[in-house]
Amino acid sequence: MREVLINTNNPYTVYIGQDLLSKCGEYLNRVKQPCKVLVVCDDNVNKLYSTCVMDSLKDNGFDPFKHFFKSGEENKDIKNLEAILETLAKNNFNRSDLVLALGGGVCGDMAGFAAATYMRGMDFVQIPTSLLAMVDASVGGKTAVNLSSGKNLFGAFHQPKMVLCDIDTLKTLPEEEMKNGYAECIKHAFLADPTLLSKMDDLEDLIAQNIEIKASFVCGDEEDRDKRTALNFGHTIGHAIERASGFEISHGKAVAIGMCLELKAMGFDKVYEQLKAELLKYDLPCECELNFFDLKSELMNDKKISGKYITIPTVESIGSYQLITMDEAEYTQFIKRALI
Ligand code: GLY
Repeated sequence: MREVLINTNNPYTVYIGQDLLSKCGEYLNRVKQPCKVLVVCDDNVNKLYSTCVMDSLKDNGFDPFKHFFKSGEENKDIKNLEAILETLAKNNFNRSDLVLALGGGVCGDMAGFAAATYMRGMDFVQIPTSLLAMVDASVGGKTAVNLSSGKNLFGAFHQPKMVLCDIDTLKTLPEEEMKNGYAECIKHAFLADPTLLSKMDDLEDLIAQNIEIKASFVCGDEEDRDKRTALNFGHTIGHAIERASGFEISHGKAVAIGMCLELKAMGFDKVYEQLKAELLKYDLPCECELNFFDLKSELMNDKKISGKYITIPTVESIGSYQLITMDEAEYTQFIKRALI
């Protein structure tokens, strides 16, 4: 069992270990008095894990309710957000109750945003069940849904009260989904700590070390205005690829391609070759068929654009990052170099 303290303005602990789902009620007792709990999950996770979680909540004095939605990034939208809010309202939840996000990043982002906004904010906890959500999305308090104009455009910062990563849940995760998580681990290694690359086999250590790296970027910059923006390495082009492919290219794979294309466009050839070698070990892609014209409108609508400028995080040598600010003309040249 590993514990990582996330020292944000309202600190919380991430627990990483085995057989935690069946003990989630006990862990929840550490941070919350008995209350109503809305367990939010998708239809796949519902079949696999919701009974075990609801039973543990009941055994520990909580009053659990359940809301599930159809799986898939395309369902992380206002309609499904509204449905969660209506479930809370119909069951008379109030601000002292709790939302529990049980699932991958889609679930955590959407349930977290419901918690951030219902009655102007209530507590939530994250129980991520994918490697990607464990090493990235469940920590740091970014919550959002997608708009038809772009990914994560409607959202809020809202830190969870606790995160439980039960690595047993990864046993049922398809190999393709594990790859999405490895892409974010490789991103963290290139940004901050190459030693991570030799620890990819021990899941408990891998997840804990990734969360420590993520915390080092989030703490002190919770609202993503300075050093936290480095975590967007590969995401400028990655998000555009994900959306332009209609989410056929999954998040981790899109970020893998995004990191490669962004490094190539920066002209950082050595680190680009190192990155490609690491990604190929996990059968992750380094390029795709979408080009500048396919991605132009997505890239120009990026939420990281502030006024006339955009800041692109990059890695000139493995283990350290730079933030490079570009004006519109420089940004257009940059994405042309990456994609033409
Ligand atoms: N996934 C990037 C961040 O949380 O800032």
